[in-house]
Amino acid sequence: MYALQSAHAETPAERLAGLREQARALLEGERDSLANSANLAALIFHALPGLNWAGFYWMKGGELVLGPFQGKPACVRIALGKGVCGTAARDRVTIIVRDVEKFPGHIACDAASRSEVVVPVVRGGELLGVLDLDSPVVARFDAEDAAGLETLARIYVDASDAGA
Ligand code: SME
Repeated sequence: MYALQSAHAETPAERLAGLREQARALLEGERDSLANSANLAALIFHALPGLNWAGFYWMKGGELVLGPFQGKPACVRIALGKGVCGTAARDRVTIIVRDVEKFPGHIACDAASRSEVVVPVVRGGELLGVLDLDSPVVARFDAEDAAGLETLARIYVDASDAGA
């Protein structure tokens, strides 16, 4: 298992690097996609400060369906192209939303959310779903966070068999 500990105040870059190594260690030796995505959502939620939601939506039957997450109960189904998640999935791009109130069509699952980052999860050209993080703080996420989360998504895909 993992332990969240540090002897000094970490910089965001150090925190992301530590999270990457923790994710590798946590998923090592386990191929079950549900177990790995559930554990990764929990790891992210507890390792990164300033989050109110972290989890996955998986592509099922042409739409996004809620997967393992930490945070308040959330919208279950999101159509491709809808909200931040559906847009990131449709376009297969990472989206950083500094202020959710300024993102047209943002889907408010938790009224506390003020900023968001969504990373596509892709395996060999196939869109599996998205990794979604919400924060109650405006502009919580930057390009460094997005790159770190893209790496975590790759670690998940490499570590896990198909099927969520
Ligand atoms: N805000 C997202 C919906 C998912 S929740 O944030 C967990 C969106 O606009 O797609």
